Amino acid sequence: MQVMTRRQFVRNTSVLTAGLALTGMTGLMPTRALAAKPQFLQTRCTGGDATSPKILVAYASMHGSTGEVAETIAKDLCRAGASVDVRLVDRVKDIGDYQGVIIGSAIKSDRWLPEAINFVSANKNVLNNLPTAYFLTCLTLAKRSKESQQLARSFLDPVFEIAPEVNPSGIGLFPGVLDYSKYSKGMGAVMHYKMWTKGIEAGDYRDWSMVHDFSRRFQSQLVQRGLLAEDV
Ligand SMILES: Cc1cc2nc3c(=O)[nH]c(=O)nc-3n(C[C@H](O)[C@H](O)[C@H](O)COP(=O)(O)O)c2cc1C
Repeated sequence: MQVMTRRQFVRNTSVLTAGLALTGMTGLMPTRALAAKPQFLQTRCTGGDATSPKILVAYASMHGSTGEVAETIAKDLCRAGASVDVRLVDRVKDIGDYQGVIIGSAIKSDRWLPEAINFVSANKNVLNNLPTAYFLTCLTLAKRSKESQQLARSFLDPVFEIAPEVNPSGIGLFPGVLDYSKYSKGMGAVMHYKMWTKGIEAGDYRDWSMVHDFSRRFQSQLVQRGLLAEDV
């Protein structure tokens, strides 16, 4: 067996100590302050020819998951023959080109995000003449019950108050996503506490069959208005 000299022993333990200190420091680093940057999808798909109805799916989101719901709806409608733009609601300048508009938002503090409410308010005189539908994503619906369904429906009250003339043909109430890796340290702490009081664990609660049903109902509206052929 090789015997370590005193000098070798001191050098090796210094390296080990420095390594442990670094690991400890890394553990103390504010990892949530380095939250993953959210991706906000904006896409276009063309489902038919030049005569296809142009549909807008405009959405508001904090961390991106509502954009994936919007894109799923868009793909469904494209498969049915429509041409669909998915846009962040605050990037939409003009809705005059569209024959149907779907607006969706993540829920924060029991309501749609302000930019989605403002969008409906600003465009209500156009929206009231178009096939329109609303959807929301939230964590209240992570627990399935009649009460949570009623509560989630009430999250749209401010939209109906600000734009009573818009009469959406469909309403989608969708469970959302609880992903702490997306939150800043402060938001993560608040959400941890809130979700702990409600007994909701981190996870992706989105139910894609609910989203497809919503798309199918909107598709029927387009068919009823003669914008899509029934057999497509
Ligand atoms: C800061 C914050 C506040 C939230 N407030 C509510 C709320 O009041 N009610 C609710 O049901 N869900 C609430 N949620 C859950 C979000 O609506 C849900 O996580 C949604 O899927 C987020 O979508 P996004 O990834 O597009 O931002 C909140 C989430 C965050 C991060």
